[in-house]
Amino acid sequence: MRIEEWFREGSRNRERQGNVIKGIRGAPDILPDETGKWQALEAVARDILDRYGYREIRTPIFERTELFVRGIGEGTDIVEKEMYTFEDRGGESLTLRPEATASLMRAYAEHTLGAKSSLTKLYLIGPMFRHERPQSGRFRQFHQIDVEAVGSPGPAVDAEVVALLHHLLEAWGLGGVELHLNSIGDRACRPAYREAFVAYLQDRRDALCPDCHLRLVKNPLRILDCKVEGCRQIAAKAPTIPGYLCEACREHLGKVRSLLDGLKIAYTVNERLVRGLDYYTRTTFEFLNPALGAQNAVAGGGRYDGLAEELGGPPTPSLGFAIGEERILTSLAAQAAPAEAPLTGVYVATVGEVGIELAMTLTQRLRRRGLCAALDLEGRSLKGQMRQANKDRFRYSLILGSEELSRGQVTLKDMLSGAQQEIPLAEADDRLASLPEREIV
Ligand code: HAM
Repeated sequence: MRIEEWFREGSRNRERQGNVIKGIRGAPDILPDETGKWQALEAVARDILDRYGYREIRTPIFERTELFVRGIGEGTDIVEKEMYTFEDRGGESLTLRPEATASLMRAYAEHTLGAKSSLTKLYLIGPMFRHERPQSGRFRQFHQIDVEAVGSPGPAVDAEVVALLHHLLEAWGLGGVELHLNSIGDRACRPAYREAFVAYLQDRRDALCPDCHLRLVKNPLRILDCKVEGCRQIAAKAPTIPGYLCEACREHLGKVRSLLDGLKIAYTVNERLVRGLDYYTRTTFEFLNPALGAQNAVAGGGRYDGLAEELGGPPTPSLGFAIGEERILTSLAAQAAPAEAPLTGVYVATVGEVGIELAMTLTQRLRRRGLCAALDLEGRSLKGQMRQANKDRFRYSLILGSEELSRGQVTLKDMLSGAQQEIPLAEADDRLASLPEREIV
């Protein structure tokens, strides 16, 4: 859209909404009361990913459209219906990333990240964009923690990746989740399965939805994740992939299973788990939280040994997963009432004519010494300042009154008990800074 059209469109919207511009449906704001939970979630993830040897990568949120079309697959719902694609001013087709794996593999090849080691461990945290119908647990902008182990074909990597995901969910305290595991074969054995699957569907063609008629020609395996009830019933009775696995794929799955058994990680083999992206080969898995309702996958992933070649690079067997952060946070919130934030820091209050200069200098000094500190910037009464200090959950307040100051004293008030005592101004910094960091008790 040209900029003039954008302004015109904008003014139409403003008329429609009584001049108030609202956010986009399915792309919620994350408000200050919630950001702490996101930070804590990501801090735990970074710590654990670090322990397993993963390093962070940050790629742009938009890429050439072709990357996703070739990577995710033309016949997938994501590419066919859900991508935010636009032409930039140079006439190039760009797309907001609907997922991170294709971007990560592009960056891996472009910067030869595999030069130092045959197995490269990478992770990315950030927003993804899919034009899906917004509903509970399904957004148009959502956030993933995406983890990829690039370069190695062995089943031990699959087992470690699943164990890492299991460890992350456990570290967040997420209970009641189920691991579903499957193998969807490879280039050698999938054609035979595909043939059997198509033959089964041809006999039931009339009962399929119009989209699945097209899928039958273009990309039949996608019928396995059609959401239309009639198609689901047909798919539920269709032949499944494991019966058609070649020897090498069967062995791979067997080894992954025995390693997971050894790690005491419980799973269910779900022969109908195919996942919605075309790049998968062999191992696929999802963690489900049944308590979430329809959108119950909290994380999903699998092996994608052919993706690098699909994107024009050399063979690079890899696997990984992505966690939906919104779904993790919703699951955790449903489990337990969040604890009230502890009282922290110092509020520096002023009384009467005491200048803001002294309060400001003192507050800055306390912040430099590592304390969370605030002062009144709006000339409020002492009562108003104390009300604010309580609202902002300060543990202490330091009250600067002209009478006490004339004697070189200030008042230290414990906001929990209400007890207060006079202390020498000259000792105030040391007294406050010597109390345990952040939560001053
Ligand atoms: P995915 O299954 O499309 O896989 O997404 C992974 C997770 O992202 C889902 O399990 C879900 O928790 C979350 N998610 C997906 N779509 C939405 C949405 N519209 N709203 C909220 N959350 C959503 C992938 O994206 C693959 N790239 C995973 C992967 C990495 N495979 C190999 N490596």
